[in-house]
Formats: sequence, C-alpha cells, structure tokens
Amino acid sequence: MTKREIKHLDGVRLSDQGDSVVIIDQSLLPNETVYLNLKEATDMYEAIHQLRVRGAPAIGIFAGYSLYCLALQSTAEDFPAFMEELKKQAIYLNSSRPTAVNLSWALKRMLAKAEAGSGKPRAKILYDLREECLAIHNEDIAMCKAIAEHGLTLIKDGDGILTHCNAGPLATSRYGTALGPILMGYERGLNFRVFADETRPLLQGARLTSYELEQAGVDVTLICDNMAAIVMSKGWVQACFVGCDRVAANGDTANKIGTSGVAILAKYYDIPFYVLGPTSTIDLDTATGKDIEIELRDPDEIKQKWYEKPMALPQTRCYNPAFDVTPHKLIDAIVTDKGICRAPYAESLRALFE
Ligand code: MRU
Repeated sequence: MTKREIKHLDGVRLSDQGDSVVIIDQSLLPNETVYLNLKEATDMYEAIHQLRVRGAPAIGIFAGYSLYCLALQSTAEDFPAFMEELKKQAIYLNSSRPTAVNLSWALKRMLAKAEAGSGKPRAKILYDLREECLAIHNEDIAMCKAIAEHGLTLIKDGDGILTHCNAGPLATSRYGTALGPILMGYERGLNFRVFADETRPLLQGARLTSYELEQAGVDVTLICDNMAAIVMSKGWVQACFVGCDRVAANGDTANKIGTSGVAILAKYYDIPFYVLGPTSTIDLDTATGKDIEIELRDPDEIKQKWYEKPMALPQTRCYNPAFDVTPHKLIDAIVTDKGICRAPYAESLRALFE
C-alpha cells in the first residue's frame, strides 16, 4: 500500500511573542484563510461565540491559551487579587458558549494550576500556566492520534463513511476525532469514501469537513443533510463517524444539531453509528443528556446568513438549537483516546477514569 503524507493544519496556537493567541478564522473558510491574533478578553469571547474558533477540543485549547495570555496582563499586586481577576476572566470566557464541556474543563484546569502557585513568585506562576496550556494542546494532539488508531480498527479499506458537522483537525488538533481514522488510514494507503453532511445552518460540513478532506486528498462527497437517508439506502455507507461536545455519564451525547437524526437513520439502515472524542469531552458530572444545556443561536443564521436576500419573512419565528443529544441506545461505540467504550456506558465510561 502506498504511504502518503498529509499536511496537518494548526488552527490554534500561542503567538511567536508568546503573549497572544493565533487562530485561523474558521468562520471565513474555505474562501479566505485569515489568521487572527487575539489579546483582549472581549475578542477572545467573540471568537468563541462567533465560531471563529469552534469544535469542542479546539475551544478548550483556545481557552487555555487565552487565560494564560490574560494572566500575563494582570497588574494585581498580590496573589488573592491575581486569582480573583483570573477567576473573573474564566467566568467571562466560559459564558461564551454553554454546550462543549472542553471550555469549562480547560478553564478549571488553568485555574487549578494558578491556585497551586500560592506562595510562589508571579513569574513562576506564569511559567506554570504557560506549561499547562501547552500541555492541554499537546495532550489533545496525542489523544486525537490515539482515537484515530482505535477508530481505524472499526473500518476497512474501501468503506463508505458518513460524517456530520466538523470533527477534523480544525476542531481539534492534527488528526481530529471523527476524521482521525479516515486521515490516518489515508496516510497508511487506505481509501475511504466519505459523505459529508453539509450541516445546516452553519455549514461546518460543507465549509470545513469537505475542505479538510479535499486538502488531504481523501475522496469526499458533500451532501445536504436531508440526503443522508438516500445515501444510506443505496448501501454506500458502512459506518457513521461523528464528534461530540459533551458525553454524559450514561453515554448520551451532545453534538452538532442533526446528529441524532443521523443516528436514527443509521439504526434503520443497520449501519454502525460511532461517536469519537477525547476523554476531556466526557463529563461524568452530567448524569444524562437531559442535563446538558443546549445553546440556542440567532434565528438569522437560518433565515439569512448565507443568502443574498432573507429566505423568510422578518416576523417568521425560528428555533435554532446548535446541538442535539443522541440517546446512548443509538450509539454502537464511543471511541476515546483510552479505548473503545460500548454499552453499558455508565460502566465503560466510568472505567476510563479509574
Ligand atoms: O458549533 P460547533 O461548530 O462548535 O459544533 C461542533 C461540533 O458539534 C463538533 O462535531 C464537536 O465539537 C466535535 S469537534 C471534535
């Protein structure tokens, strides 16, 4: 088999000066590749809220770097004042989007690191915070690689794979989660045929997934979300791979709106449905999917964002939830960096942390 090399995109990083965060503005892809250099808390909040940086793990990595850069700017005179400032910044950043657990997970981790610096000189605390945000990023790279290895055992050369939204390198680091096995397999000479749901209303599948796969050289076909059933009915899909924003303790999984519909279709057509995500996206403190807060977004994303003219009357009411929850019963396996979990998820997920 011919080995291939793919160029990995780095969507989030610390600037060369080390005092700001550099991101690819995902909201402009694939037409423009614009890098933003962010230093102010309000710009960081806006970048998450407007999905300039998006995808649960990427949001976590970005939050870690952001809090470190904000800590560098602190003029607080003593440790308690420094911590109070940092906690306020963390609460502010955390309020930018509610569903992806990686955001609060990374912020809590940074705050714990800062707290552990009590009694140490400020320079040492800042050094430790820098190490911590780099560790969050490096661990994500390793987790994506491990997820890709585990996920690759579930598919074979020539398989058709349907994916929803974007859980590739831009949403994470390097291989991505749902796209990880596909990209890693492709590097090793395997060929898959990917069907990418466009993912209304924000088109992450069209703008980002098909872009990433095209760039890598993987065979990808873009479909509208409502075409998944016909593609499955023709026997073109052997597995569904999706990412996740929060996995509850019982295995219920929040992911991009429309994911649960794909799972229902997959069940009907007897196609395995797999969720792929790092352990940082598993939230054992959330008992079930009912406990996950679902972000509601601006109706204009449905009515006019991508159109020259509005596609509905101004007074037309819209319901625009950004995520839905796939019940664990519809999930054949949850592929993590620590291995593949199967039902009963309450046990298999808990075992990952023991
Ligand atoms: O609103 P988004 O684009 O941030 O939603 C992203 C998703 O739902 C992804 O599928 C999920 O975060 C997994 S990314 C590895």
